Amino acid sequence: MSTTPERSQSSSPVLHAGADGETSGASATSENDSDLDSTLRAGPIRNICCVGAGYVGGPTAAVIAFKNPHIKVTVVDKDQNRIRRWNSRHPPIYEPGLGEMVRVSRDGLPASKQDKKPVQQPNLFFSTDVSRCISDADIVIIAVNTPTKSRGAGAGSATDMTAFEAVTAEVVQHARLGAIIVEKSTVPCRTAELVEDMVSTHRPGAHFEILSNPEFLAAGTAVQDLLRPDRVIIGSASTPEGRSAAESLAKVYAAWVDRSKILTINLFSSELAKLVANSMLAQRLSSINSISAICEATGAEIREVATSIGTDTRIGEKFLRAGIGFGGSCFKKDVLSLVYLAESLGLKEVGEFWRQVVIMNEYQRNRFTCRVIKCLNNTLVNKKVTILGYAFKKNTSDTRDSPALEIVKTLLEENPREIAIFDPCCNPLVIKGEIRALCGFGNALGDDGGAVKVYTNAYEACAASNAVLVVTEFDEFRNTKPSAPATQSKPFPAPATEVKQQQSFPDEEHFNPEPVCASDCPDCEIEKTTSVPVAVMKIYKPQEQLDWTRIAHGMRQPKWLFDGRCIIDAKEMTRLGIRVESIGSSGFSSVDTS
Ligand code: UDX
Repeated sequence: MSTTPERSQSSSPVLHAGADGETSGASATSENDSDLDSTLRAGPIRNICCVGAGYVGGPTAAVIAFKNPHIKVTVVDKDQNRIRRWNSRHPPIYEPGLGEMVRVSRDGLPASKQDKKPVQQPNLFFSTDVSRCISDADIVIIAVNTPTKSRGAGAGSATDMTAFEAVTAEVVQHARLGAIIVEKSTVPCRTAELVEDMVSTHRPGAHFEILSNPEFLAAGTAVQDLLRPDRVIIGSASTPEGRSAAESLAKVYAAWVDRSKILTINLFSSELAKLVANSMLAQRLSSINSISAICEATGAEIREVATSIGTDTRIGEKFLRAGIGFGGSCFKKDVLSLVYLAESLGLKEVGEFWRQVVIMNEYQRNRFTCRVIKCLNNTLVNKKVTILGYAFKKNTSDTRDSPALEIVKTLLEENPREIAIFDPCCNPLVIKGEIRALCGFGNALGDDGGAVKVYTNAYEACAASNAVLVVTEFDEFRNTKPSAPATQSKPFPAPATEVKQQQSFPDEEHFNPEPVCASDCPDCEIEKTTSVPVAVMKIYKPQEQLDWTRIAHGMRQPKWLFDGRCIIDAKEMTRLGIRVESIGSSGFSSVDTS
């Protein structure tokens, strides 16, 4: 997130081997009586401040505000550009249903004569006045990014706490006594101790209850995940004051979440549970991906294997879709954080066990790229390769840690005529910016004389191509109807329309007008060239599947399709004269058996 300064030297909190999991570090030991009283007397929550206007803070605050119209929710961030975008018609992130939710809570609704609904006052605000908004709040939620440290002690696995530490210092200095501080960011276990230390350093004698309330929202389904969570975890000190603070936060969620799904647990268990949840999911993917390599070598089919094991209720059907490996901002960093935790505690074997999950993920991606190069006779010179999908998964414009970038980097080394990229959800300007920034060897982009070109049209991207790589599992890349296979990772789709129906948003004409964008808004820039509003462009439409016959006609021999997401029916492609190589498939499918 933008609030993280680069080149951090900060490290994860000091870990104490043999930690017993008791919440002593976060218990009410330093408070004076008047502070304690104010905590216990905490009345209803009227004002929440969320620090960090990113992928977690924005959607979380929007849903809390939408479901609690009586609570004023303010999202603060020191990044003026980011706040300006939240206060415009093009928020900085796209999530199905989020736009409507923000419009209702941020802009309010006029009275509806038809339904006799009164005016709905705005209760969601975005501001750069960080300290003032913190000081007004009953609950301060810290939702800044905690990436992996890139240098210094623990580089490559420890959590970079720079942003979290900086924000916490500001929070403990400005929060009003009796306010509750909530760790929403994914943090190392025992971070609550660090927060306590900061209270005693910056506000000696003061006391705040600290809660851990990890997020479990996935990109592309964030609003859905928030509206219908499997569970909400709230970790607190096991003191009466801690439990009372947990109850205050639980009431906020209880506005829309069934009480049985709100679990109040030990503070450190809660911190650790988040890391473990993501690590277990990532481990599942590395497990199935490792089996896909065996399938390719034996003639077994990974989709059949996944379905066969997934129907065992002890294993379960989700997160068994083999592919080019997981991407996104969370899995890798959280597994590595767990590795660092284990190693810091002297548990070397435990660290090695979890590190293998990340190693297997990289192996899987590299295996796929090597297969592409090998099939193309180990040379890409004078050849065009098309990448379909750039986001790390479908239904999102999120490109963080997307396998696509690494694939592009490796293919570029082979000196191809062109690498074409098309993604139905990502802003091409954003993709270009990322390639420019991260490709390392200058002039990778066509605009700068390089081989990489970013397209807004899939057919143009595939024209005269020798090989098409399906890198993201957008349903429109399928050559069969999306069939909701048993191995699907999420109850897809969660398009805006579905969230809309559940929440019964008003029609467009009943919204208040949206605030205008700043002159440098990249989404306005792209709208100028496509004549399709970005918000509409980004909503996934299953009926608009690609016409593969048209693509096949336009491709150049040898025509290859590399299915990195197991969404292509190889037989259908073979009929069109395209040879197919799929993850976890032995390659028999490239022969037309019909
Ligand atoms: C994850 C967690 O799911 C969420 O709870 C947490 O809070 C944040 O991290 P996210 O990274 O946004 O969410 O997406 P997720 O749906 O979990 O997918 C992660 C990666 O795994 C993607 O690259 C996806 O394509 C891949 N994946 C998922 C597979 O390759 N196969 C599957 O079966 C499922």
